[in-house]
Amino acid sequence: MTGIKYSSQMVAKPYFIFALILLAGEILFGLLMGINYLNGDFLFPYVPFNVMRMVHTNLLIVLILFAFMGATYYLVPEESERELWSPLLAKIMFWVFAAAGVATILGYLLVPYATLAEITYNSILPTMGREFLEQPTITKIGIVIVALAFIFNIGMTVLKGRKTVITVVLLTGLVGLAVFFLFAFYLPDNLVLDKFFWWFVVHLWVEGVWELILGAILSFVLIKVTGVDREHIDKWLYLIIAMTLVSGIIGTGHHFFYIGAPSYWLWIGSIASAIEPLPFFLMVIYAFTMAKQRRIDHDNKIALTWAKGTAVMAFLGAGVWGFLHTLAPVNYYTHGTQLTAAHGHLSFFGAYIMIIFTIISYAMPIMRGRPHGNGPKAQKVELTSFWMMVIGMLGLTFALTAAGIWQVVMQRMGVDPLSFMQTQAQIAPVYMVRLGFGVMVFVGLLLYLYSFFVKDTPLEESVA
Ligand code: HEM
Ligand code: HEM
Ligand SMILES: [Fe+2]
Repeated sequence: MTGIKYSSQMVAKPYFIFALILLAGEILFGLLMGINYLNGDFLFPYVPFNVMRMVHTNLLIVLILFAFMGATYYLVPEESERELWSPLLAKIMFWVFAAAGVATILGYLLVPYATLAEITYNSILPTMGREFLEQPTITKIGIVIVALAFIFNIGMTVLKGRKTVITVVLLTGLVGLAVFFLFAFYLPDNLVLDKFFWWFVVHLWVEGVWELILGAILSFVLIKVTGVDREHIDKWLYLIIAMTLVSGIIGTGHHFFYIGAPSYWLWIGSIASAIEPLPFFLMVIYAFTMAKQRRIDHDNKIALTWAKGTAVMAFLGAGVWGFLHTLAPVNYYTHGTQLTAAHGHLSFFGAYIMIIFTIISYAMPIMRGRPHGNGPKAQKVELTSFWMMVIGMLGLTFALTAAGIWQVVMQRMGVDPLSFMQTQAQIAPVYMVRLGFGVMVFVGLLLYLYSFFVKDTPLEESVA
């Protein structure tokens, strides 16, 4: 017996489970790189740093896509008040995507990258070699097919069912995700043009359409666990996505400062992106206001904790750490330093990893026959894992921020700056601290996974 309203919502389960497995792999490779920063020969030549980095960042993207799909399959039937158009198609696509993902990661690990490009016929339609978009062209085509089948399935469900602001915003975000991915197939020879359009995927995803997906999932969970009126939620969601699109689209300009693009981007990029923290700030007020005005006291308390945590951490990682280096005169010094990595870590974790925990912590107990959420013991374990991961990621980010500032001062300022490698050698102690906090994040994740297996009295029984 499960507590779900529509049986087709169950297709979300394998997507969530697989996303969590990939997350464990992603963080593990992060740790391996953390060790590599202290001992450059670690695992060389079997798994070189560039391969670890590729596995780390690609697993990150793929796990987020799996979780977005899972979240969509879970919430769309409930919002649309009808079964999914084709649960079978969703199941088939899970296996197609999982097989393509695993094959790609194995390809990175087992074959030199140049050989991988050769045997996957990259020469026919070259797309490989760019950060985050390293996948062989054939994998990219696979991603497009999976995305089309997914959007068709969801689109049919939404069109035939009740339309809500949440599903419309979600679908807009998902269509945007697929459309902007198409720029991954455009690889100009000119390096300036190449970088210019690369950001159409990377920036317009994380600071555009993904934010719509984030807002929609957050709103769904908030409605469920606070019982606040839908009209109320809708107004907030509209406001947040309007601010997102107004600032985020033109905000792409903050990546066009020093790459060879025209200099008017210095002004446009600085001004537009300086507004980008605003929707993230609104999200914090939104989550906390809804929690305060709640009409019900849902027993799944940890889901609300994750929802509030997502808003706060996304604001810190994207809003605060983003603003830190988004003005052109600052970015002149900080571009591509450890400060960028600090921001990359906290924003990806705060926004897109934490929203995954939010929806999984809400939906998974229901799919496992516990409509009131897990029992108190399991929720306690999960709360500990929440704080371990949050504090771990904050610590890791502070370490990288210190490293970044140190790097700028030594390598990019003064009359006699040090070389890149001399600077890195000086910063080594900070990388030790980063590794320590990284281990804390990993242990936190293991604890989260363990919380699924805690033997507990499900709440409905203890209450009844
Ligand atoms: C869920 C947790 C994590 C997320 C979301 C994440 C995300 C990312 C992202 C987005 C990048 C690319 C950064 C950029 O291009 O600026 C990256 C690179 C990296 N990450 Fe992580 N990461 C996580 C956990 C970790 C952990 C625990 C460690 C190690 C302790 C780690 C170590 C690294 C390293 C060493 C790089 C490469 C930096 C470089 O190129 O020098 N990551 N990670
Ligand atoms: C959840 C949302 C966000 C995510 C996941 C994110 C992630 C990232 C990542 C991974 C990078 C490094 C890319 C690379 O490899 O070069 C980056 C760069 C950057 N981000 Fe964000 N970001 C987000 C929001 C923001 C916001 C709101 C701002 C500004 C207020 C911002 C400002 C920047 C800037 C200026 C850079 C370029 C850094 C450089 O020049 O090296 N980001 N972001
Ligand atoms: Fe950006």
